[in-house]
Amino acid sequence: MRYGHFDDERREYVITRPDTPLPWINYLGCEAYFGIISNTAGGYAFYRDARLRRITRYRYNSVPLDYGGRYIYVRDNASGAFWSPSWQPTRHPVEDYLCRHGLGYTVIGSSQAGIRAETRYFVPLGEDLEIWQLTLANRRAEPAHLSLFSCIEFCLWDALDDASNFQRNFSTGQVEVVDGVIYHKTEYRERRNHFAYFACSEPLEGSDTQREDFLGPYRGWDDPQAVARGASGNSHAHGWAPIGSHHVRLALEPGERREVRFLLGYHENPREDKFDPPGSQTLNKQTVRPVIAKYLQKANADAAFAELRAYWDQLLGIYQVHTPDEHVNRMVGIWNPYQNMATFNVSRSASFFESGIGRGLGFRDSNQDLLGFVHMVPSRGRERLLDLAATQLETGGAYHQYQPLTKRGNDAVGSDFNDDPLWLVLAVAAYLKETDDWSLLAEPVVYENKPGSEQPLYEHLQRSLQYTLDRLGPHGLPLIGRADWNDCLNLNCFSDEPGESFQTTTHREGGVAESVFIAGLFVLAAKEMAELSVRAAQRLPDLAAGRPDKYRQAAREMAATALAHGWDGAWFLRAYDHFGRRVGSDACEEGQIYIEPQGFCVMAGLGLEDGRAEQALASVAERLATSHGIVLQQPAYSRYYLHLGEISSYPPGYKENAGIFCHNNPWIMIAETMLGHGDQAFDYYMRINPSAREEIGEVHRCEPYVYAQMIAGRDAPTFGEAKNSWLTGTAAWNYVAITQWILGIRPTYDGLQVAPVIPAAWSGFTATRVLRGVTYRIEVRRAGPGRAVSLQVDGVPIDGDVVPPPPGGRDRVRVAATLG
Ligand code: GLC
Ligand code: GLC
Repeated sequence: MRYGHFDDERREYVITRPDTPLPWINYLGCEAYFGIISNTAGGYAFYRDARLRRITRYRYNSVPLDYGGRYIYVRDNASGAFWSPSWQPTRHPVEDYLCRHGLGYTVIGSSQAGIRAETRYFVPLGEDLEIWQLTLANRRAEPAHLSLFSCIEFCLWDALDDASNFQRNFSTGQVEVVDGVIYHKTEYRERRNHFAYFACSEPLEGSDTQREDFLGPYRGWDDPQAVARGASGNSHAHGWAPIGSHHVRLALEPGERREVRFLLGYHENPREDKFDPPGSQTLNKQTVRPVIAKYLQKANADAAFAELRAYWDQLLGIYQVHTPDEHVNRMVGIWNPYQNMATFNVSRSASFFESGIGRGLGFRDSNQDLLGFVHMVPSRGRERLLDLAATQLETGGAYHQYQPLTKRGNDAVGSDFNDDPLWLVLAVAAYLKETDDWSLLAEPVVYENKPGSEQPLYEHLQRSLQYTLDRLGPHGLPLIGRADWNDCLNLNCFSDEPGESFQTTTHREGGVAESVFIAGLFVLAAKEMAELSVRAAQRLPDLAAGRPDKYRQAAREMAATALAHGWDGAWFLRAYDHFGRRVGSDACEEGQIYIEPQGFCVMAGLGLEDGRAEQALASVAERLATSHGIVLQQPAYSRYYLHLGEISSYPPGYKENAGIFCHNNPWIMIAETMLGHGDQAFDYYMRINPSAREEIGEVHRCEPYVYAQMIAGRDAPTFGEAKNSWLTGTAAWNYVAITQWILGIRPTYDGLQVAPVIPAAWSGFTATRVLRGVTYRIEVRRAGPGRAVSLQVDGVPIDGDVVPPPPGGRDRVRVAATLG
């Protein structure tokens, strides 16, 4: 069953009924000001950090679902009837409801009693504000006398404190209302120099800033007393719960259309100029007034919207494909890179499933997110890599998370997730291949955010690898630490205390838990480092780089160790536990085979020559693959195992306990392409492709335009149901799998590689890839069943499958690839 459809032409997903199984959300903003917005206008806004600079309030897991948002009420002054064009919060029946989620904007509208009302919400590029453009049309034969009420609820900045510290917060709220603009300035009197504002393009009939006066005692957002009686209370918030609500009266002739604009924004004043006049307690509005005036003008709002559209055209133009499969074209061309932008920006902080108060930017997560993002805005990738590296410790280890606002490592979570530093190597390599900007490696970067400890980034990478080599267990495999990629395999935790964090608690020291997954990751990272250091030595002689032999040797040794001690007979073992016993082995009662080492060891090249890679992937197909995707392990843990930790805390089929953890499905896809199995890789790709799952919306339930972290596995009663959409490494990895490995177009140090491993039934495809300022138009044609590729570049055959950068500053290249 579908709840809408794709409009590929406009790059939108169109939702045609408001009661989707879950709120289907979108993101507004892609730089510093962000919002989430659902298909019924639920959601909130924040500046940079969803916890520390929360602008509007939202109640997670609310009843009714998804309450608190960017609300507009339309009231017919003749009848007194009122409704919300976005359906929520009144949930009044509406006609021809539509929500269009586009790239950085959302349009929601409906008709009721002959009045069409539609709002376009977006954040202009380069600004810290959002614009709501509300269009009203009178389709009646007579004039319509309407009242509009806007409403948002301000959050008192720190979202965690806001949701818990009521003894203080009920007394601190402060606002000013001047010239129709509502300014929210709680705590501005003391240490803050930022405030929020909510403005309207029309003359106001009235306003409200105190929530309970707007709503009325014991009334909800569905039935505010101000709207019901058709008049604001002109309330002024002193403490309690500041809101922003404007009341506008409009008379529309038959057939008349009008646009009303609202602005919600964030603004900072210089600390020394906070007040105007100086010495008063009045907000200095001098610098914000021009911004407000500008975007309240329709022409400026429209121009900002056009600019946003053009920005996305440019970003998406970097990689476009036309294949025989519409789900590929749509996900690769539009939605997957769009999701990559969201994950890169907000990491795992703010979504319908992430509360914005928990996690900062994860070290491993952000490095992986970069893999799907770096081609779009490399300069931001560069900045992110430097920020991440600055949270690395001198040992080479890393803070597991850092806060986006302060860019400092999070002490509460700490370090010792032993896979973390290796992801930095993969991310830096991806950046270099995309940009050829070797200066990055010479950038001085501190350790642990400590001034004076600067070393070139290259040295950080060396320490990343050394960190693993300094922490080997009895089999010579890497020690796992608190956890590796799988946060829930906690082999040193042994928690029997309810509520304790599985990730940060270590109850037993001195264990020997080792990770075969980290071994695979290490081999891949060491190989990358070898390649990278050869070039670094050529490009940056001062760096004294270039110990490729050392890294090749380390990769070889680790590979040998993994094959000797990490092979279980028909697949790669997952780990050795605290006591040196096998995890993810045929010998185990449950959890006999895990997906992660099968993917990563093969990606690292292990077992390619001796058939073990083939065998491992055959075991995945046999034991882990389901119609909805590949589950993380099997058999699911039926009970809690003290020595395994959180993985066994989940009921069977959910999350890491045998859920389809979509993040690592692409590792198997990539591994399959390395063995030349195009059909198998593509089949796995399609099983979790959100667009392909659109038609089973009642089963999948999450948005069909973005990946979810998890789809319930076959052990779960809700097999096939997705959860935790949007903020997941699934986005970047699926993008890498389809664009670089299945379609086979990947940047390398020496040029653009074209080595597709596509389904046998495809006759070919065309693609456009912009790399380092050169546009490559690629046509792939299948001449035979294999994957051998021969290339012609601008009509001239070349050796190998890497197209070198064109000579003489040319910026257009035609590539013809023949497969078979
Ligand atoms: C979550 C975490 C990620 C981890 C994964 C598996 O997605 O954000 O860091 O690797 O779960 O546990
Ligand atoms: C839980 C989740 C896991 C996530 C972790 C983050 O353990 O199961 O997916 O990575 O929390 O701390």
